[in-house]
Amino acid sequence: MTTRLTLKTTPPGAPASYTAPTDLPEAATDGSRALVDKFGRVARDLRVSLTDRCNLRCTYCMPAEGLEWMPTEQTLNDEEVIRLITLAVTKLGIRQVRFTGGEPLLRRSLEKIIAATTALTTDEGGSVGTALTTNGLGLDKRITALKEAGLGRVNISLDTLDREHYAKLTRRDRLDHVLRSIDAAIGADMHPVKINTVVMPGVNEDDIVPLAEYCLRKGAQLRFIEQMPLGPREQWKRSDMVTAEQILERLRTAFELSPASEPRGSAPAALWNARGRGLAGKIGVIASVTHSFCGNCDRSRLTTDGAIRNCLFSNSETSLRDLMRSGASDEQLAQAWAGAMWGKLPGHGIDDPGFLQPDRPMSAIGG
Ligand code: 5AD
Ligand code: SF4
Repeated sequence: MTTRLTLKTTPPGAPASYTAPTDLPEAATDGSRALVDKFGRVARDLRVSLTDRCNLRCTYCMPAEGLEWMPTEQTLNDEEVIRLITLAVTKLGIRQVRFTGGEPLLRRSLEKIIAATTALTTDEGGSVGTALTTNGLGLDKRITALKEAGLGRVNISLDTLDREHYAKLTRRDRLDHVLRSIDAAIGADMHPVKINTVVMPGVNEDDIVPLAEYCLRKGAQLRFIEQMPLGPREQWKRSDMVTAEQILERLRTAFELSPASEPRGSAPAALWNARGRGLAGKIGVIASVTHSFCGNCDRSRLTTDGAIRNCLFSNSETSLRDLMRSGASDEQLAQAWAGAMWGKLPGHGIDDPGFLQPDRPMSAIGG
């Protein structure tokens, strides 16, 4: 039995521009509903950015001096983040939560937030899958505590294996530390440890094969990602970008590739079985631009300052923080969240003539 719930009044303290969403998906009598959009996609995967700060300065993400960090009072505190994650899992059908940043390890209470998340039960009666996207700095020291808090999986970003190259790309000489953290994650049995590599023209194309060899040897799952227009504006040109096809071509110089048989579902990576140089294993290629997976997208995003973005590239967002701080009920928050997702566009439109880069940097949206 479901009843259509409509919010008759503007939530207290809502901005003047607030309009109550119309045509929302129906809520069940217990107030639960799924985060569906007009195109029938259902969001099951929540990405939570826990800080916009970072201890690296990857050239494709930030200027050398960093960005203007958000003042603490504007960002969600632990209770607020936990309240929204709880709402998402218990009332809105979210089944997986990924913590991102900036660099999420910079949030001291990360373990506490993860423990509160893993204690929740999903609409299917199971536990919440949790994952962390990190640059790896400090992960080696915290992996045990994170595992104890219930963390399920980690994705570690690594764009090169060359120390000088790494220092140039991230503007910090920390490659050894990241490699230690990868070993620590593998040692802690966080299987499969995933490594994310963004491929950039003229920057790290020569790193493709060495990274593949390293990950196959370690038993980590490498995923190459097509660079998306998210960083400093002058750094991305559609005509220059390294495509998934070009990445595969490079890989084929050293490995035999055949498509892996697992169904892809809503996972963005196309998986390949790679064999060569005495090694064998799986490598993923994420063609975010050339073969976008928007049609299967199951994500909802919560920014550090408590806004819902229905897409990495959306040009509008809904602040749940403002509603929450002005006394909105869980039902009002759930309705605003569902409304934000309902308006999700069919795709990122990177190839459309009128495409606009999002007005926030990736580090503030969460990857
Ligand atoms: N395109 C694709 N991936 C990116 N990341 C950061 N910026 C971009 C971009 N412009 C990746 C990071 C990390 C994750 C958070 O997103 O390398 O793996
Ligand atoms: Fe930090 Fe990630 Fe941006 Fe690099 S890409 S500066 S690790 S947030």
